[in-house]
Amino acid sequence: MELEMLPYKNIELKTKKVLEQLTVSSRVLAELKGYSNTIPNMHILINAVTIKEAKDSSAIENIVTTHDDIYKVLTESGYKEENAKEVVDYRNAIWTGYEQIKKEGYINTNTIIKIQRTIEHNNAGIRKLPGTELKNSLTGETIYTPPQTEEEIRKYLKNLEDFINDSEDAIDPLIKVCLIHYQFESIHPFYDANGRTGRILNILYLVLNKLIDSPILYLSKYINQTRQEYYTLFNKVRKNDCFEDWILYILKGVEITSKETIELIERMQNEMKKYKDEFRLKLPKIYSKELLESLFYEVYTKISYIEKACSVTRITATSYLNQLEKIGLLESEKVGREKIYKNMRLIKVLSDD
Ligand SMILES: Nc1ncnc2c1ncn2[C@@H]1O[C@H](COP(=O)(O)OP(=O)(O)OP(=O)(O)O)[C@@H](O)[C@H]1O
Ligand SMILES: [Mg+2]
Repeated sequence: MELEMLPYKNIELKTKKVLEQLTVSSRVLAELKGYSNTIPNMHILINAVTIKEAKDSSAIENIVTTHDDIYKVLTESGYKEENAKEVVDYRNAIWTGYEQIKKEGYINTNTIIKIQRTIEHNNAGIRKLPGTELKNSLTGETIYTPPQTEEEIRKYLKNLEDFINDSEDAIDPLIKVCLIHYQFESIHPFYDANGRTGRILNILYLVLNKLIDSPILYLSKYINQTRQEYYTLFNKVRKNDCFEDWILYILKGVEITSKETIELIERMQNEMKKYKDEFRLKLPKIYSKELLESLFYEVYTKISYIEKACSVTRITATSYLNQLEKIGLLESEKVGREKIYKNMRLIKVLSDD
């Protein structure tokens, strides 16, 4: 059956169950939005959360790596680990998309192409050769054949773009995001990275519609934990037009993830407070807000970062980091020719799932 254009006709979006779940999900999401706007060091939170998301989203694609590897790659000390590099590319793609929508105020086909290009590091762009099919990974049987020609794909993307930017259709944006994700994955416009691009598109859409102000709500962990259901639902929708289950699934994800993100922010704030108190008490002479924040911003830091962040000489920066290591607030490790300093306490908060 051919993929329908948006908005879908003849489907009931506002069922009783959907409306109930929508109320709950909207409330928790609003709570997250309100709470995140009160915290003083937002950039630290966004940085940490996007890295976590990059790790979880890439894991769905079986790109598995550790926080340690990711942070080492991020220090740009020449550390090499392929999967961690792909995760870092994914995080860059979130930023690319976020900056783009902040600047332009809409999402279009080019935004989507740009995101995919940043994840994949190539210029393949929209599929030009036919043959892409979604197969059951166990039996090899074809489950679904997405649009095949570039012309068709562009037509569907244009339709999706119009749907995304239509703010007068009276469909709740949280419901729209469910439809957008389904439609985008069904168009499957690229040879690869459709899942990851689609998951970034979700958060950009939420930001664009001001359901959240910063890119901090990500469903990948939830999707990863319920992966089988995620895949099964695609096919269920297609066979039976069963959008209710799909919408409920995504809305539930928004609820669970918003709650978890609130808890994560709380844990980070608590850890930062404890860290700060210990730092001030034990090393009052070198304490500064800039120094403290740079230990949290980068998670793993190195001498040159501190030189820059605190406007001090290399010798002073080295001495700061060594003193922090001595009192147990950092741990150092040699990577290539450089020494990196790890904020293990923050890592523990971020990896405590
Ligand atoms: N039956 C289906 N119909 C439509 N889309 C599907 C179906 N099954 C899976 N998908 C989507 O396709 C994505 C996988 O496509 P692709 O391999 O291009 O993306 P990826 O980013 O490389 O992988 P992944 O999503 O596993 O990280 C899945 O994440 C899902 O969103
Ligand atoms: Mg893939």
